[in-house]
Amino acid sequence: MMGRAIWLTGIFVVAGLAADQAALERGQKEEARDCLPCHSLRLIHSQRLSRATWNKELDKMGGWGVKYSDRDALMEYLSANYGDDKPLTPDGKSLDGRKQK
Ligand code: HEC
Repeated sequence: MMGRAIWLTGIFVVAGLAADQAALERGQKEEARDCLPCHSLRLIHSQRLSRATWNKELDKMGGWGVKYSDRDALMEYLSANYGDDKPLTPDGKSLDGRKQK
């Protein structure tokens, strides 16, 4: 009985992670499509913004003509990788030298 509950929980956790991963990948594609026409990704990836500020940033770029097809996925991607809780170093590596995700 208990074993089964744990097993089911495991399935839901794995399904949740897979969904997140798919959204992050869609977000990254969306970024390349929407943002690269005007500037490099470096300008974006050198920021560390809160979710609310990323949202404003996307509004600002929207005002300059970006047509989002999957804005939610892009928001997930930006706040997961370039949130204000992530360390900021000039070469995009974390302080212990590992490449940041
Ligand atoms: C129509 C051209 C254009 C597109 C498309 C565009 N940007 Fe920008 N972006 C700019 C310009 C111009 C600046 C510099 C503006 C400034 O100095 O305020 C900028 C600056 C930025 C900055 C630096 C902070 C700021 O506001 O100045 C960020 C972050 C950013 N863009 C994110 C994005 C993202 C994310 C996308 C894709 C969703 C995107 N941009 C698409 C024109 C664009």
